[in-house]
Amino acid sequence: MHGRESAVSVLDANRRDGYTIPSATLYPFQWNWDSAFVAVGLAHADPAAAKREIRTLLDARWENGMVPQIAFWSDAAGYFPGPEEWRVGADRTAHADVETSGITQPPMVALAAEYVYEMTGDESFRDSVLPDLKAHCEWWLRERSDDGELVWVRHPWATGMDDSPAWVGPLERFDPGDVSYVRKDRKDDDLAEQRPTDWDYDRYVALVRQGRELDWDEARLRKESPFVVEDVLTNALFARACGSVAALSADAGDDAAAERWRAQAETTRRALSERRFDDDLGLFVSHDLVADEPLPVRSVAGLLPTLAGAPTDDQFERMRETLADFFAYEYAAPSYVGPEMDYDRYWRGPVWLNTNWLLERGLRRMGAEREADRIRADSRRLLDREGFREYFNPETGSGRGSDRFSWSAALSLTWAGDDAPTEVAR
Ligand code: SER
Repeated sequence: MHGRESAVSVLDANRRDGYTIPSATLYPFQWNWDSAFVAVGLAHADPAAAKREIRTLLDARWENGMVPQIAFWSDAAGYFPGPEEWRVGADRTAHADVETSGITQPPMVALAAEYVYEMTGDESFRDSVLPDLKAHCEWWLRERSDDGELVWVRHPWATGMDDSPAWVGPLERFDPGDVSYVRKDRKDDDLAEQRPTDWDYDRYVALVRQGRELDWDEARLRKESPFVVEDVLTNALFARACGSVAALSADAGDDAAAERWRAQAETTRRALSERRFDDDLGLFVSHDLVADEPLPVRSVAGLLPTLAGAPTDDQFERMRETLADFFAYEYAAPSYVGPEMDYDRYWRGPVWLNTNWLLERGLRRMGAEREADRIRADSRRLLDREGFREYFNPETGSGRGSDRFSWSAALSLTWAGDDAPTEVAR
């Protein structure tokens, strides 16, 4: 496998002042869930840097509790849309003066903070991050939930799985109008084939401009945005985040907070199981709140509520049959299987190591050790073959997207030895 030293050297090279950029060629700022996965890996190699990664991310949280998708801590060229497009302003943040984007990303940060705490046992780190993690979970419930059970997002970028086929339906229903902008992500012809299409980008940009015109007012955006989706991955990680906040609170001796967040994790877990399981497809599906209809696709996101222990035994039996379709490739698990599958394009089919990492842990939580072992073995084979690529063709294994990609390097450190904390029921 591309060993520990090369993983650490990629992470060192991508490190800036207190955070790690995902990729020097494609993503030159701090990204929310990227930093969380990076912290998980750094916990195995450089615990001080792991703690700092999480602290810096939480320093960019908004006063209202949102942890933004991107924090623009310093100027960098080569990325669109930058701060001048989002126009959020540095006065929204609670702890630091930093410009950010106007959306969030899946709340991986709580699980990552708990993981780093388990690896380090550093109580001052726990006590420093807990108020911000609580504020973030409160924000999801206050600003992003209609019912106190499931939470919604209002941009495909916020789901982390930008061009998932699940989003085509909602995106088709609106006309982005005449958006003019210049993409910076298609660095060469090969990469152009591996990135989302212009059709997708027109809609991504139109949604950013709508958010900015409404001054990021959540109540108005809930009514006016054409894209309001209960994303199944976000909800799985939200339930798991509430569980992490409960566990950290209990550890800190705050029984009332522990009880409150345990109950919330249970509420969200039950809502996923009762309302978001698609028995025909055999996995969980996201829900379009504008049209009030399910988005029935076989995305790997639909397997990840395992991480929160959401499936009932019967549902998990059904999911095992679906897993066979994700395992029917040389390398598991593709990000999507179905008619729109494209082995080489972003979230339309390639294997990603962050979803593999989550899926392995979800499967272990459900007791599916053999399937979890397959995910781990395939992830290691991909890393051996191609190094720290951003994503991989599920049939040939060829690396796609960026090289020297931070979360691929970071997660390889969790698979290199046997010192990772085991997944616990949260
Ligand atoms: N993944 C997005 C991009 O490609 C940002 O979150 O820019």
